[in-house]
Amino acid sequence: MNTIPPSASFEYRPAEPTVVDRHRFQLEHGIIGRSTEILEIVDTVRQVAPTDITVLITGESGTGKEVIARAIHKASKRAGRRFVAVNCGAIPEGILESELFGHEKGAFTGAVESRKGYFEIADGGTIFLDEIGDTPISTQVKLLRILETGEFMRVGSSEQRRTDVRVIAATNKDLEQEVRARRFRQDLYYRLRSVNIRIPPLRERRSDIRLLVEAFLEEGRRKDPSNAIRLSEDALSALENHSWPGNVRELRNLIESLFVLERDKLVDAAVIYRYLPPLEPGESNRPLPIALGKTPEQAERELIFRALWELRTGIEEIKKLLLPVVMYSPRALPPSGNREIAEKPVPEFDDSMTLEEMEKVLISRVLAKFNGNRRMAARALDISERTLYRKIREFGLS
Ligand SMILES: Nc1ncnc2c1ncn2[C@@H]1O[C@H](COP(=O)(O)OP(=O)(O)O)[C@@H](O)[C@H]1O
Ligand SMILES: [Mg+2]
Repeated sequence: MNTIPPSASFEYRPAEPTVVDRHRFQLEHGIIGRSTEILEIVDTVRQVAPTDITVLITGESGTGKEVIARAIHKASKRAGRRFVAVNCGAIPEGILESELFGHEKGAFTGAVESRKGYFEIADGGTIFLDEIGDTPISTQVKLLRILETGEFMRVGSSEQRRTDVRVIAATNKDLEQEVRARRFRQDLYYRLRSVNIRIPPLRERRSDIRLLVEAFLEEGRRKDPSNAIRLSEDALSALENHSWPGNVRELRNLIESLFVLERDKLVDAAVIYRYLPPLEPGESNRPLPIALGKTPEQAERELIFRALWELRTGIEEIKKLLLPVVMYSPRALPPSGNREIAEKPVPEFDDSMTLEEMEKVLISRVLAKFNGNRRMAARALDISERTLYRKIREFGLS
């Protein structure tokens, strides 16, 4: 006779993931967000982490692809072993294969010793192949092989080696399009995308912005508890309405800058707009900012701030046009920037300078004006960021 009450069988059922479990997981792995998109991603991560399945993470730069990759590793049985992150896009083509698979002594000029590659170093752990879309076709064949069989050969060797590595790949490229353009092997693509986690850009999950801001402020306070910086309600709305082309990374950088440069202040929307990059010409045609659950007064105030900001952008353009003329009369220059950096002596122009010296002064002034933000400085100077970096190095500017 069965004496166990039927309800007892419930105890043997694996527990359904609860909201609390999910929240705890997010805390543990530093995944901030409560949008349905993020919650779905968290659930997928929790499902795939314990397996060895290959995961492809796609999303724009700064959306958190590496955060997710690390969470998968940390929640897997490989957590105690290495997580090796390789940026396939940043390693020159000529040495990528020897970096990934290792090489034997004498395999090429300069190979004075044999060396393990990342796949061997990561043995037992996880390898994170970042920017996989930038891998040359010739290397892709070898990646496919190692994914399918775990086998590879060091450069300059014909000995088969084996490694036990879980692969997580990421890209901000549309791999399907890369396949169509024959820059990416279809078979590798199919192999990689067994599980595809797509992280939407921040502008498509604006409800996460406040949480992220709070978390980054909290992080700042932990490092510097005496800083009493606060953000006003309209500052938060301004952040919520921005398009964030650099996604969470851009938001984090902005909060870190505010923390340092607006120490102890109550930051409002006008201040926020000073930190956001000026709008591109023609960008003012974009749809008006969406007012998320705002009173009409708040929404109107934001629109006014926006309008003022665009006006300011126009003035910047005019200043840029006038700058070559103003350059020769230092007194006519407005004080550089409107923030506390004015304490630092700002280099001045004078008539005896060579063109090169003037260029150096101009660059340091513009950098100072944008608090060292190179992207904004490059934009104001109308040169590429790359050129600006080169000049900074050339002139020994910091
Ligand atoms: N959901 C998130 N929660 C907390 N921090 C995040 C999140 N997404 C991104 N970040 C932070 O944003 C920055 C960029 O993230 P990262 O994973 O390097 O982006 P990607 O690899 O997509 O370029 C990092 O500082 C990261 O900590
Ligand atoms: Mg990254």
